[in-house]
Amino acid sequence: MEVRTRVIVAIFILCSILLPPAGSTWHHRRGKRHRNFVFNHGFASGGEGGDGNPSHQRFDAFANIFFDAAFGNFAKFRVGFYDQTCPQAEEIVAEVVSEAFQNDKGIAPGILRVHFHDCIVTGCDASLLLDSTPSGKDVEKTSPANGPNLRGIEVIDEIKSRLEIVCPGTVSCSDVLAFAARDSLVLSGVPHYDVPGGRRDSLSSHSEDIDGNMTIPSASIENLAQLFARKGLTVEDMVVLTGAHSIGRAHCPTFAYRVYGFNQTHHRDPKLEPSTSTRISSTCPRPNTPPQPDFTGTSMPFDSSTEFTMDTEFYNQLFEGKGLIESDQAMAEDPRTSDIVKEMASNEDLWLNKFSKAMVQMGKMDVKTGTEGEIRQNCRSVN
Ligand code: HEM
Ligand SMILES: *[C@@H]1O[C@H](CO)[C@@H](O)[C@H](O)[C@H]1NC(C)=O
Ligand SMILES: *[C@@H]1O[C@H](CO)[C@@H](O)[C@H](O)[C@H]1NC(C)=O
Repeated sequence: MEVRTRVIVAIFILCSILLPPAGSTWHHRRGKRHRNFVFNHGFASGGEGGDGNPSHQRFDAFANIFFDAAFGNFAKFRVGFYDQTCPQAEEIVAEVVSEAFQNDKGIAPGILRVHFHDCIVTGCDASLLLDSTPSGKDVEKTSPANGPNLRGIEVIDEIKSRLEIVCPGTVSCSDVLAFAARDSLVLSGVPHYDVPGGRRDSLSSHSEDIDGNMTIPSASIENLAQLFARKGLTVEDMVVLTGAHSIGRAHCPTFAYRVYGFNQTHHRDPKLEPSTSTRISSTCPRPNTPPQPDFTGTSMPFDSSTEFTMDTEFYNQLFEGKGLIESDQAMAEDPRTSDIVKEMASNEDLWLNKFSKAMVQMGKMDVKTGTEGEIRQNCRSVN
């Protein structure tokens, strides 16, 4: 055997001997957090292994460690990354998110979207949080694709400043964002799931990196699927993750075009159910040219009945022609995605389970670890 292979096998065997049965330590950690901050959705298994079978969970734990060892990531990017260096880190994140959520439930979809938009452009490295960089070039935040409508960034700042008091220079902004997105989801009804830590923060942010790397609401399913594939996510991941639109709002410019001169043959998008179409035109005033009316600040909830709950109502509304976003609607119709939408729409537990797994996957996009990047002191600027 090659030396590297031998080391990996040795680690694997050692882990099999030394690891306590899954459940004891992990459940302890989860249980503690549940009691303090979040409500448990009543999921038997806590979402990690899915089926709640301890031997399967144990196998998953071995498999993860084996995989990480094989790729040299062990210790650099893992669940419980701050257990020794800042044991309170995840609790502080959960506490601040929970406090902010009591005041404004909209921070949950806001933070989730910030995390997604950060990850999909140059990886989960908090590049989206930078207000400016020493180069003075336009940062990701200034791009119209992020818009003036990012919500929840002040919550990330608040978390970070509390963390800097307790464990200065230790917890990265990109990890704060990943933990905060998970806690936002839990507050919105997703069963708790573990998020690996160890991401490092970028030293730069360029608004031009967004071109070709961002989801566009009028994009075809083909293009979106290619984008997700480039980022290591499957078509199923894409459909499952887009269920994030079960919470949150969209602003008029992202969908009002569907009722004002949609295309040459149809003034209104015929796929929109008539009452939704009417609601859009009354909420978003008709554009005149020039000047464009200012409907940029006006928004509508994606899910017209349960705006703050992660449930399958959003998928079901797509089949009724009530989806605001053109590409969301297209997912319910395109032969590559419609069966997945149907399956998710009809089985909420299945969707939520797949959702948290896909979130973990999303949170691994091009992460910087080890000595790459830095641990920012202030998420808005490089050190
Ligand atoms: C599949 C392609 C996707 C497209 C085309 C898309 C498009 C959009 C658009 C147009 C908005 C409205 C923004 C605004 O006007 O303020 C939005 C909001 C949102 N998106 Fe997506 N999105 C996609 C995937 C995702 C994914 C994968 C996630 C997370 C896992 C996500 C999470 C959200 C959330 C939570 C909001 C609401 C933000 C808020 O209420 O502040 N989206 N998305
Ligand atoms: C997307 O981002 C990558 C870096 O992650 C960058 O190299 C590339 O130029 C960007 N644009 C496209 C179209 O991929
Ligand atoms: C306009 O949109 C409808 C519905 O999607 C489509 O059937 C029609 O072919 C489109 N017309 C043009 C000219 O693109």
